[in-house]
Amino acid sequence: MSSLLATGRTHDCGSLRREHVGNEVVLFGWVHRRRDHGGRIFVDLRDRAGLTQVVFGPDIDEGAHALADQLRSEFCIGIRGTVVDRGENENPNLPTGAIEVEAHTLEVFSTSATPPFVIADDDRLDVHENLRLAYRYLDLRRPCVQRNFLLRSRLYQITRSVLTRHGFWELETPYLVKYTPGGARNFLVPSRLNPGTFYALAESPQIYKQLFMVAGFDKYFQITRCFRDEDLRNDRQPEFTQIDVELSFATPERVFAPIEELVAEALRELAGHELELPLPRLSWREAMERFGTDKPDLRFGLELRDVTEVTRGCGFRVFESAPLVKGLCVPPEHAAPLTRSQLDKLTDFVKKREHGGAKGLAWARVEPDGSLKAPFAKNLSPEATAGIVRVMEAEPGSVLLFVADDFDTVHTALSALRLHLRDLLGLLDEASPSWRLAWVTEFPLFERTDDGRYVSAHHPFTSPLPEDVPLLDTDPASVHAQAYDLVMNGNEIGGGSIRIHRADVQAKVFEVLGLDEEEKQQKFGFLLEAFRYGPPPHGGIALGLDRIAMLLAGAESLRDVIAFPKTQRGHDLMTGCPTPVDEAQLAELYITHRPLPGRDDT
Ligand code: AMO
Ligand code: AMP
Repeated sequence: MSSLLATGRTHDCGSLRREHVGNEVVLFGWVHRRRDHGGRIFVDLRDRAGLTQVVFGPDIDEGAHALADQLRSEFCIGIRGTVVDRGENENPNLPTGAIEVEAHTLEVFSTSATPPFVIADDDRLDVHENLRLAYRYLDLRRPCVQRNFLLRSRLYQITRSVLTRHGFWELETPYLVKYTPGGARNFLVPSRLNPGTFYALAESPQIYKQLFMVAGFDKYFQITRCFRDEDLRNDRQPEFTQIDVELSFATPERVFAPIEELVAEALRELAGHELELPLPRLSWREAMERFGTDKPDLRFGLELRDVTEVTRGCGFRVFESAPLVKGLCVPPEHAAPLTRSQLDKLTDFVKKREHGGAKGLAWARVEPDGSLKAPFAKNLSPEATAGIVRVMEAEPGSVLLFVADDFDTVHTALSALRLHLRDLLGLLDEASPSWRLAWVTEFPLFERTDDGRYVSAHHPFTSPLPEDVPLLDTDPASVHAQAYDLVMNGNEIGGGSIRIHRADVQAKVFEVLGLDEEEKQQKFGFLLEAFRYGPPPHGGIALGLDRIAMLLAGAESLRDVIAFPKTQRGHDLMTGCPTPVDEAQLAELYITHRPLPGRDDT
């Protein structure tokens, strides 16, 4: 073994200070930068803890100096040397900037090819993400990326410590699980031992954690991977990590308490922010009415206002003929950027399908005399004008933006517009990031499909609000669930519910869902069987660990906090998966493939 490796390092590259001057030290790391200055060679040595300047010179050690001449970026090396004071050459930008190490021993552990991009400590590195993902191990060397993973690592520790303190047991559940038709799209795994049959990869431990409650485990948690074959976005990965929690004898309050403590501790430790508990609650209905979404960003105002009443019979046909008319009021101090051409752009924005597909955006400026200046305003009655100004709480100079349509379109469009205006008008104070969390509660229990059937908004074991149970017979659409989401800065970071443990309520819900006996048995038979043996009342939640890490790290994409993520097309650019597989292996599994569409596969 080499001598330096046998000795081991005395410090990491981030910890030497003026108090170490005179010490003999051994450091290991990578050559971050190398400069040759009049005979002396300076190397910034980097490890995960930081950078230390190392100096080689003929006056310090001739052999080491000669060898240092061959060093290039990303060589992995070890050095032994003496810590010296940099005096007036101190680098105030570096924690180790008061000192440097004069190296009299250098050992090259390994050389490096020229990396395809510079290993820079820069969030905005001008390199295509695909290249970074193809060389992810180099991308992961970048200090700004490593900081995200240290944060993530601490998030696991905080989770374990808070939940263990609250008496939760850390347990595991299978990844290879029973396939249930009609649920979220599952990844399938063929069973070689049972040709023609498949496992599904678990989309969540939902059923198992409920069985833990039947088993009497009382309080369970798990930091676990979930697999979902969905369309991907910046906040969705096909495999992601949940902090999964379930407890017996649960009420929403008993679920919220440990979760609030967990999130508060994470924010305190990882963002230096003191959260005020308990967190505010917002019913789903209130969230929709005020913000147009079930995951409102509460860091700024610009709330939706309903002008349906005051615009009935107003003289503008677009408003009069729509079931709902709502708007946003941009106050005068933020309205300057809303020029005519900008307003046209906002109109195009709300018309886009992904922003709600509204038919248009009606806008108006409030004049000094309280009248409205707008393409549509000439038709407005004076009463309607006054009503609009009153409901919108508008002042002279305000700009009003309205969408008239059905409930879903109005809310989707205005909620997207609200977030767009947040960024466009700079409504957040970037200098001091704020953290606004809330529970959104009382979601509808069912959603209607296009063909009028009811499906579970959550899953079929979600309990209705006790007072809504009678409505299961008369008006299922208006039944609310004991379901809740946790929302942070406009992102859904968790969701859960109190579950049904009563057979009669469960039977009613299955009836509304139109499940016959055979389907029930096929999909949930084992859970229903378990529920015959004294299930405790129970409930739980799952937090999206990647999303929390993303927000705490100030990152824009889950890919910044997942070590080896997939692209939006589901590719791993480093290994090249997914790939076709050997015919022999397919044969062993009794799988043949169908011709791919648009390709001659014969
Ligand atoms: P749900 O499906 O709401 O609930 O998931 C819980 C949380 O997981 C995160 N999440 C994701 N993160 C990254 N990529 C994805 N594709 C992804 N999908 C979800 C979100 C979400 O809030 N079994 C229930 C929980 C329960 O009822 O206890 C469940 O899985 O932050
Ligand atoms: P139109 O009647 O199509 O000429 O539209 C007149 C104005 O109303 C335009 O500025 C449109 O963008 C706007 N508008 C049209 N439909 C809607 C709608 N459903 N909600 C809000 N504004 C609309």
